[in-house]
Amino acid sequence: MSGGAEIVLSGISKRYDTGVDALADIDVTLRAGSFTSIVGPSGCGKSSLLRIVAGLVAPSSGHCRRGDGAQPAFVFQEAALLPWRNVERNAQLLMELAACRPEQMRQRVAEVLQLVGLAGFERAYPHQLSGGMRMRLSLARALALRPDLLLLDEPLAAVDELTRDVLQEELSRMWRQGGFTGVLVTHNVHEAVYLSTRVLVMSPRPGRVVDVIDVPFPFPRAPELRATPAFAQLTGRVSAALRQPTTI
Ligand SMILES: Nc1ncnc2c1ncn2[C@@H]1O[C@H](COP(=O)(O)OP(=O)(O)OP(=O)(O)O)[C@@H](O)[C@H]1O
Ligand SMILES: [Mg+2]
Repeated sequence: MSGGAEIVLSGISKRYDTGVDALADIDVTLRAGSFTSIVGPSGCGKSSLLRIVAGLVAPSSGHCRRGDGAQPAFVFQEAALLPWRNVERNAQLLMELAACRPEQMRQRVAEVLQLVGLAGFERAYPHQLSGGMRMRLSLARALALRPDLLLLDEPLAAVDELTRDVLQEELSRMWRQGGFTGVLVTHNVHEAVYLSTRVLVMSPRPGRVVDVIDVPFPFPRAPELRATPAFAQLTGRVSAALRQPTTI
């Protein structure tokens, strides 16, 4: 796997000024070009950790080292599109904020809309798209930045199961083509295993990493992988780690 930024988290803890201890003793290295999922109970600090990796929130102690000049992009659970902008103009939003040249924006927008299967919908408005299409647009907007690091906070939580399976396959394809390091927060153990090279399991708050599970299946992963005994065994292992978070 080539491309992407390496992320080194050393001794990270986070206490908010409300006194809530969200994270404790996080020591993890995410290899360049890897795809890591983070699973854990609600409120255990997953979004906080993702924000620390993105540089949006400072840890209370420890540090997060991102590869030199790494360009992160964040995809939130809600597609967060601007309703008055059409697909094309939503897709170029982050590039505008990054002061990209207009011709570069046009070219990249065309590329990423093709990549996420939205070519032909450039003039449509968000309310004219399905939930899955809105999420694809949100992904396109992040990918247009050519990130070295793509951070995804439950991006597929709001779509139905069939759409979710399809979007997982698309996301996996984009990751293989995109040359970025991926970090995905999800509540869905199957999604975590299907997409990832590694799954981190967190304890209840303050969140600690209680298990690190390498996922050995080669890429590209066929949709049928989800129905194999080996897949069931690994998802079972992640679920068991979630149920017994204090064993390590
Ligand atoms: N900006 C903030 N200020 C104060 N407390 C916060 C802030 N953001 C998060 N918290 C607290 O930190 C803890 C962890 O929150 P976080 O959103 O990281 O959890 P999470 O694992 O993403 O949960 P969920 O699975 O429900 O999304 C919670 O107790 C939350 O109330
Ligand atoms: Mg969260």
